[in-house]
Amino acid sequence: MSGTIKVLVTGAAGQIAYSLVSFIAKGDVFGTNQPLSLVLLDIAPMMGVLNGVVMELKDCSFPLLKEIIPTDDYAVAFRDVDVAFLVGAMPRKEGMERKDLLAANVKIFKGQGEALDKHAKKNVKVIVVGNPANTNALICSKYAPSIPKENFTAMTRLDQNRAQAQIADRLGCKVEDVQKVIIWGNHSATQYPDVRHATAVVEGTTTPVQKAVQDDNWLKNEFISTIQKRGAAVIAARKLSSAMSAAKASCDHVRDWWCGTPEGKWVSMAVFSDGSYDVPEGLMYSFPVRTKPDHTYEIVKGLDIDDFSRQKMDLTAKELEEERATALEVCSA
Ligand code: NAD
Ligand code: LMR
Repeated sequence: MSGTIKVLVTGAAGQIAYSLVSFIAKGDVFGTNQPLSLVLLDIAPMMGVLNGVVMELKDCSFPLLKEIIPTDDYAVAFRDVDVAFLVGAMPRKEGMERKDLLAANVKIFKGQGEALDKHAKKNVKVIVVGNPANTNALICSKYAPSIPKENFTAMTRLDQNRAQAQIADRLGCKVEDVQKVIIWGNHSATQYPDVRHATAVVEGTTTPVQKAVQDDNWLKNEFISTIQKRGAAVIAARKLSSAMSAAKASCDHVRDWWCGTPEGKWVSMAVFSDGSYDVPEGLMYSFPVRTKPDHTYEIVKGLDIDDFSRQKMDLTAKELEEERATALEVCSA
């Protein structure tokens, strides 16, 4: 059995966390051999609700869960953390675009960047889920200059999972048999879900998704738009933003980062651009990445980009540049 690791979940009294904490405590992320200390951060008015979550976690009798630390104090929450799930932020309501959240949420991530810088382990791994996730992750890293930039990521795994599920539905194949879908760019309505390199197992044969679907018009229009607007569609239906699927996706993201992607596979994560695919360096942009069991990752290089993709990839990069400019303004005000 490995030594206990300290895992922080922010927004711990919220909807996503309600599913997420049990997935983590059960061993879905770090493995069923990895003991955990779970730190639960929320704001002071939510401490009563958080206490209920703590009671339930205890009542689950998870063997791996060695300690639960509920708090509203950043100095306690971020101290010596190994992995941070930054979920806590205001969710989008019906009719809002993600950029409407920016002003409200970005300052939270400035403060949490400073707290990570001061209190967390220098090799802490950070996933930002709270929206606008890419820009919040960028700001968080900016205010945590002592932590390597590659330790900050934002979640686009929910978009990847959604895309795999739509393709599997369309082809009548297993969701796990759809591989190498890519989410490029922002976790927003400008993201580009790209199946040009994706494969699916159809009637026992691994086939390019484009060939198996045989409907380029659907792939270039309805499919892309469904994934781009899925978050809004869930909000319209539930009157609340996606939570169970977001929790599952954040577990998938961190599990693959922690344990490594299987040979020949890749996953999408928003990470700092190193200029790959002519994405401006320094943007927090979703790329296909391969991860290794030593918790490192690399952007998959050398994929061909056609004109259609180029245009979509540039559009989402432009949105991220605009978000970054607004966020920096908000933070310096
Ligand atoms: P929620 O309102 O149910 O919970 C958010 C929690 O965060 C609340 O308990 C709130 O008190 C807490 N919080 C607010 N400020 C905080 C702070 N400074 N420190 C710690 N906690 C704080 O919301 P939710 O449904 O759990 O969603 C959380 C965020 O995740 C939202 O921004 C939502 O838009 C986003 N989200 C992202 C994705 C994605 O794919 N990246 C998917 C779904 C939701
Ligand atoms: C989602 O994609 O479901 C979330 O980011 C919530 C939202 O605001 O769309």
